[in-house]
Amino acid sequence: MTFEKLGYPIWWGIAAWPVDGFISANDFTGKTVIPFCTSSSSGLGQSGELLRDAAGTGDWLEGQRFQSRADEDTVKEWVASLEL
Ligand SMILES: Cc1cc2nc3c(=O)[nH]c(=O)nc-3n(C[C@H](O)[C@H](O)[C@H](O)COP(=O)(O)O)c2cc1C
Repeated sequence: MTFEKLGYPIWWGIAAWPVDGFISANDFTGKTVIPFCTSSSSGLGQSGELLRDAAGTGDWLEGQRFQSRADEDTVKEWVASLEL
């Protein structure tokens, strides 16, 4: 089992649409996917579930939202907290 972190900005409440091409072009079979996003104010919302449904493969976990311009250390701390 491999773990993949999938990051994207929130656009109009969901994952920025350029991410859709990445999702449709990849097979997530055998992977655990952990979505994370940045946004000005919106939460993660349903963005993770929508990407999971679009992917159709992979084991998608609950994601994490960060404030836009979150610094690298903040994201690294989150990744470390996952204890993957
Ligand atoms: C087209 C577009 C739509 C956006 N829609 C939202 C939104 O619905 N909610 C929100 O909180 N931020 C929204 N934003 C802000 C982005 O999520 C934010 O700029 C992005 O997370 C970039 O963060 P960064 O500066 O850390 O790269 C939008 C930005 C753009 C360009």
